[in-house]
Amino acid sequence: MSGSKGKVWLAAAALSSALVSVPVLSHFDDEQVPQSYRQSYFALLAANFGPMVAAVKGEIPWDQVKMENWANDLAALSTLDIMRGFVDGSDKGTTRAKPEIWQDKADFTSKMETLHKELASLQQVTAGGDKAAIGNQVAAAGKACKSCHDDYKAENYLY
Ligand code: HEC
Repeated sequence: MSGSKGKVWLAAAALSSALVSVPVLSHFDDEQVPQSYRQSYFALLAANFGPMVAAVKGEIPWDQVKMENWANDLAALSTLDIMRGFVDGSDKGTTRAKPEIWQDKADFTSKMETLHKELASLQQVTAGGDKAAIGNQVAAAGKACKSCHDDYKAENYLY
C-alpha cells in the first residue's frame, strides 16, 4: 500500500470505521469460497466508496474524473450477483456475516437492492458534476451500507 493510498484509507476510516473498515488481511481461502468471495466484493466496494467519502469531506482534493471513475466502478460492481457469496451453508467460517442473513434472505436481498439503486443514482449524479448533489448522494449511499451493517454485520469475526 502506497503512502498516499494509506492516507485515503485513514481518512475514509475516520469518517466511519464501521462503514469503510479496512481489512487487515485480504485473503481468498479455497476452503471458504463464498465467504472470501463476498469479503473481496465488499473490499472492492469500500476501495471505491471510501475515497469518494474522503473527497466529499474535503480530506483529499476533489478530482472530478476520479470521482466519476469511482462512481462508475461502484455501479459496475452493482451488476455482480453478490448473493452467490451468501449461499446456504456459508454462514460459518471466517466471517462477520450474522446468522440473521440466512433467516431472512428476502430482507437482506432487499437491502442490497436498495444499495444498488443508490449506486446507480450516484453514477448519474456524479456525472452531473454538482458537488453538493454528489455529497448528498454519497451520504444516501452510505446510509444504505450502514443500514445493512447495523442489522447483518458484526464488529468482529463471529466464529
Ligand atoms: C445488504 C447488506 C450490505 C450492504 C448494503 C453493504 N454491506 Fe458491507 N458487509 C455486509 C456483510 C454481511 C459483511 C460481512 C461479510 C463477511 O464477513 O463474510 C460486510 C462486510 C464489509 C466490509 C469488510 C470486508 C472484509 O474484508 O471482510 C467492508 C469494508 C464493507 N462491508 C463495506 C461496505 C460498503 C462501503 C458498503 C456500501 C457502499 C457496504 N459494505 C454495503 C453487508 C452489507
